[in-house]
Order: sequence, then C-alpha cells, then structure tokens
Amino acid sequence: MHSASLPPVSDAHPDVTAFFDPATNTISYVVRDPASTACAIIDPVLDFDPAAGRIGYASAQRIVDHVRAQGLQVEWLIETHVHADHLSAAPWLQQQLGGRIGIGEKIVEVQRTFGKIFNEGTEFQRDGSQFDRLFADGDRYTIGTLEAFALHTPGHTPACMTHVIGDAAFVGDTLFMPDAGTARADFPGGDAHTLYRSARRILALPPHTRLFMCHDYGPNGREIRWETTVAEERRANIHVADGSDEDAFVAMRQARDATLGMPRLILPSLQVNMRAGHLPPAEADGRHFLKLPLNAL
Ligand SMILES: [Fe+2]
Repeated sequence: MHSASLPPVSDAHPDVTAFFDPATNTISYVVRDPASTACAIIDPVLDFDPAAGRIGYASAQRIVDHVRAQGLQVEWLIETHVHADHLSAAPWLQQQLGGRIGIGEKIVEVQRTFGKIFNEGTEFQRDGSQFDRLFADGDRYTIGTLEAFALHTPGHTPACMTHVIGDAAFVGDTLFMPDAGTARADFPGGDAHTLYRSARRILALPPHTRLFMCHDYGPNGREIRWETTVAEERRANIHVADGSDEDAFVAMRQARDATLGMPRLILPSLQVNMRAGHLPPAEADGRHFLKLPLNAL
C-alpha cells in the first residue's frame, strides 16, 4: 500500500477557494489551475435537515455560482473519503457542471462494511462502480495543466486519500489544524496505528506544502481556520508533530475516541455517500427513504 516512491511534488501554485459550511463544520474547496480555466471541486456538501428529512442545495449552489462567475470548467469532483458527518453534493454538482467523481479504491471495503450494516440487497454494488474513478496510492491525474496525485492515508477510514495538487494537499480528516490534532479512528475500518502512520506520511511532503483541512471546529474559541503547512504541523500538531510517539498517540486516540458520541448525521451520510452521493433507489411511488438501523453502530 505505501509505495516507496511517489510522484514528484510539482511547485505549481493552484488557486484555492474555500467554502465553509457552519452546519457541519466542513470545508469544501474549488482548486483552480492558474494557467487555464480547469478546476476540481473537493468534498462538496449537500445540506440535510434530519428532523424534517429535507435535503437542500444552498451550500452546493454557492460553489455553482463561484464556478460560473469565474468561467471555470470542472474536471473532477473529489471525495477525500466517505464522510460520516455530511452528505455529498457531488452528483448534483456533476449534473450542473460536469466533471468526474473520484474516491479512493478502498471504497469497496467501506461498501462491504456498510452494505451489511444497512442490510442492502444485491442491487447495491460493492465494487465502487457508482464512482467514475477509483484512485490507488500514487495514482496521477491532471487538472488542466496541474499535476496531481492521490496518497492513500487510511486510519480515520479505510478509503481516506490525501490529494496533492501542485504545492497544495487536501488531507481530508487525516489531519486537523495543529491545535486540534487528528480525527477519530474508531469508525468501522478505522485504526489509530494506521492513522498515525498516514499523518506522518503527509508530513513527509515538502515543508512548504500548503495543507487544507476538511474540518475545523475552532477549538478553545478561536476563529475557524483550514489552511496550514507541513512545516507548521510538524512543529506544532498536538498529536503527530515531530518527536511524537506512535504508541503514545494510539493510547491517547483510543481513550479520547471512547468518549465521543456518533456524529449527528452518520447514518444518513453513510447511506448516501457510499453510493457516491446518490440517494437509495426510489420506492414505486418515486419517493426516497433512508434507513435507521437500530443498535448497529
Ligand atoms: Fe470524516
């Protein structure tokens, strides 16, 4: 899984526009090739009110408006992983703007696990075929003239990938800002040892690499932030900085994870996101339903 040699990190400097969703503390990104109009959308959010069972498009519409105002061509819609705290707007954005939806190839493990938990029938394919592209570790792709590659960084979930695009890396939930550390590693398929090694793998990128988080919760009342650098994480990350110890990290992570409740939207999110953001098939009358498995998580 961890290939010894990765593609070279290019020094191209993509334009990155962030979209913060206060309902789920998620940051979505539009990453643009400065030499063309090509762009990628990373981790877009579909609004969801679980009490009403109502879906909304306000967050995704902000991205559509930005892409259209800038005259951009969407080449990719990238999920850093199967999110457990928000629904993906990738298929809705694909309809509006085009582009291919991509995720890590280990999505098949996530589909196997949650296919069982949601008692899906055989019509739910566990082969990743709902996505347009499955990235393996080290896979290269382009956004216009920008060189990009995917880095497999499991631990939070088995399918987590970090996407390195020019001098910018989109780390998903493998790292948080330095004062927040790392994400939990206790979802099915998660592993704290693996998370530590993945975090350190990101921190082996060139020190000036810009790192963009998928989440920030503003610890200790500070303002929300989502951008840092490899050098800063290596110096100051409270969990995985230089000099940190894997076993101590694992003990800390497991103790902390044991105190955390499940994310509010985990059941709706997984059912939709394991289908690349598509809703489960409609019933005969055309309506869509989500399941609420009892005592399964
Ligand atoms: Fe996550």
